[in-house]
Amino acid sequence: MIDIHCHILPGIDDGSPDMETSLEMARMAAKDGIHTIIATPHLTTVEYPKDNLLQAIDELNAQLKSQTIAITVLFGAEVQSHIALEAADNFCLAGSSSLLVEFPHSYLPADSENLIYSLVTNKITPIIAHPERNGQISREPWLLAPLIELGARTQITAESITGDQGMTARNCAEYLFQRNQVHYIGTDSHSPGFRKPILSKAVKQAAKIIGKAEAQKLVSGYNIFLPSSCNHKPSA
Ligand SMILES: [Fe+2]
Repeated sequence: MIDIHCHILPGIDDGSPDMETSLEMARMAAKDGIHTIIATPHLTTVEYPKDNLLQAIDELNAQLKSQTIAITVLFGAEVQSHIALEAADNFCLAGSSSLLVEFPHSYLPADSENLIYSLVTNKITPIIAHPERNGQISREPWLLAPLIELGARTQITAESITGDQGMTARNCAEYLFQRNQVHYIGTDSHSPGFRKPILSKAVKQAAKIIGKAEAQKLVSGYNIFLPSSCNHKPSA
């Protein structure tokens, strides 16, 4: 399995604080059947030097190799939506043209459709991070459909599906699964205990709604390198 959303890099953001914690997260992930983790530290400014992240990934991969932990860490970022257009050139996931975009936690910005449209017409595929934990989307999950029609994909948090993030997030996740509006499951793990780096439980739960084969696709990274497209313009 591939985890496309994980704060495993040590000392970069509010995720893993140090190398030992990162290695423990990787051990847990490997035990769960994950072989690849895309490191997605929060990106709040496009000025952040990409080389810092690349160096941190190299150091972590070297440690993983020396400790024979069978995980490969790839480059990525979780980009705040207000800088998504500027960040798209440098911070897509793992050399793809898919960009992990984080909206504000409590609401969906009024210009969201225009943002998604601008990214897609610039040949960037936006992946909306954990929409089920967004306050407004969790109350009004139908707001996501127009963004998906414009070419956005969605990443749901593993612990939202299992119910470990509360019933509101779980109910929203189920709503989205029932409408085939989920494209990836990611852990959004920040430490071994804060959103665990575990995907298998969520896949089992998702399989009850969409079937085993479809659920497994959501942790395979199967279309991360395939561009999305849209044939219409935003409604607003
Ligand atoms: Fe995250």
